Amino acid sequence: MKILMVCLGNICRSPLAEGIMKAKAKKYNLDIEVDSAGTAAYHVGELPDPRSMEIAARYGIDISDQRARKFRAEDFDRFDKIYAMDGYNFSDIAALSRNGKDLEKLQMILDTTHPGQNKSVPDPYYGGKDGFNHVFKLLDDACEVIAKNISNHK
Ligand code: 4NP
Repeated sequence: MKILMVCLGNICRSPLAEGIMKAKAKKYNLDIEVDSAGTAAYHVGELPDPRSMEIAARYGIDISDQRARKFRAEDFDRFDKIYAMDGYNFSDIAALSRNGKDLEKLQMILDTTHPGQNKSVPDPYYGGKDGFNHVFKLLDDACEVIAKNISNHK
């Protein structure tokens, strides 16, 4: 199972999702690969946002080895599941899909915890630290559901 987490810049939300999902893989002893990417290139090569690194570290998760990269159509070949953080990410990823099989891999990450609600993980970039706390909680809950589902189907 190979999972890709995608947001806009790949510096705030998807690096957290990647770090949290990797921590869940350890917790549940899952044999999975996790990566993240952004639909925009503004921050390619950069470290995660310091606020994301700080909140992750508070929960014992080190995401400082991550570097931002841009999502590309070949990611549909490399990954089994692609989780979009918000509706803009979803549309931008969908626009790069080449067929129905690609599109089937794509899901809003909060569909896991809020099925059918088309709920987005809010972009915390221009806000304060509270936004990052909120994002962490949303993603921790979502990754817990994803991990349990994988674990139940082992
Ligand atoms: P992310 O947050 O998509 O969660 O990484 C953002 C990062 C950078 C920008 C916007 C959102 N930006 O406009 O540079």
